[in-house]
Amino acid sequence: MTMDVMEKAPVSDAAALKETEAIYERVRRIIPRSEWEIHAPYIAAINRLKAERKAVILAHNYQTPEIFHGVADLTGDSLELAREAAKTDAGIIVVCGVHFMAETAKLLSPEKLVLIPDPEAGCSLASYITADDVRNLRRKYPGVPVVTYVNTTAEVKAESDICCTSANAVQVVESLDSDRVIFLPDEFLGSYVALQTRKQVILWKGRCEVHEKFAVPDLRAYRGQFEELVILAHPECPPDVLSEADYVGSTAQMIKEVARRKPGRVLMATECSMSDNVAVEMPQIKYVRPSDFFCPHMKKITLPKILNSLRSMKHVVELEPSVAEGAQRAVRRMMDLKLPSTR
Ligand code: 13P
Ligand code: SF4
Repeated sequence: MTMDVMEKAPVSDAAALKETEAIYERVRRIIPRSEWEIHAPYIAAINRLKAERKAVILAHNYQTPEIFHGVADLTGDSLELAREAAKTDAGIIVVCGVHFMAETAKLLSPEKLVLIPDPEAGCSLASYITADDVRNLRRKYPGVPVVTYVNTTAEVKAESDICCTSANAVQVVESLDSDRVIFLPDEFLGSYVALQTRKQVILWKGRCEVHEKFAVPDLRAYRGQFEELVILAHPECPPDVLSEADYVGSTAQMIKEVARRKPGRVLMATECSMSDNVAVEMPQIKYVRPSDFFCPHMKKITLPKILNSLRSMKHVVELEPSVAEGAQRAVRRMMDLKLPSTR
């Protein structure tokens, strides 16, 4: 952490605790009081400064509960964050998520100031593929359309025909007028899509370092321990994990499914903060939270860095105009399909 990030929040502890009382009431089952005393001055300062600057804070479902419930105005999966970025009237958008999410917000709101509290918040999937790789694939498979998961850099998107998210990948592939598609870069999401389409899907060997670690023997051991357990999985998990799951969907689709099924006990095979955030909304459900499934990139975003971002208007997300144009086209083509919201 840099020195400016470590600066103290400009709100006294007592005032901050008072100002954040109502938020704490909601999250008290998840965040111990001793931890809240550390978060509260930052939350109060961020919420004051956000109002002053007329900024809006977007947070992905994997952000920690003090960010997700404490300072975010809009939350969701990648698809919803992209939609919200396009819809908001605010001139400043702070994206609490990884870099590709901030880039997507900028692509859809080029006139707005888009900030990311830590520009180093990357994504293991995004780093699996480069724009050169896509150009080579196009040479190898001339005329075959390229569908690119949003978990990629703007340079990779710019070389693609259309983007997709985990919520709409099948519909995006189905929307194309071709018997074959190249699906990049997530091998597991791609093979999950291939099971649901008659088109031939050409895959790439990208993986998410968090989801690839889920394993069937562990899930079965939990099932043995808890008879009534319902397992939901993100499509970035390995294929046998997806077959073992009772439901597969994007982060927002999983949340919706929990609300619909109201299971006695649930395990969400995805990044670990999601269960904490859902538990705040649905405390009557019991959550099985396997440890060790934490995204180090998402966790680079912290309250002190969000405060610093709003104070110093850093770090501005900028895109090369030539890259932005191509990437925008691919993201807009997905948005123009007007597929149902995941909210
Ligand atoms: P969602 O689009 O489902 O929120 O997933 C984003 C992500 O990074 C999953 O690892
Ligand atoms: Fe990327 Fe995986 Fe982290 Fe999602 S959980 S941001 S895919 S590394």
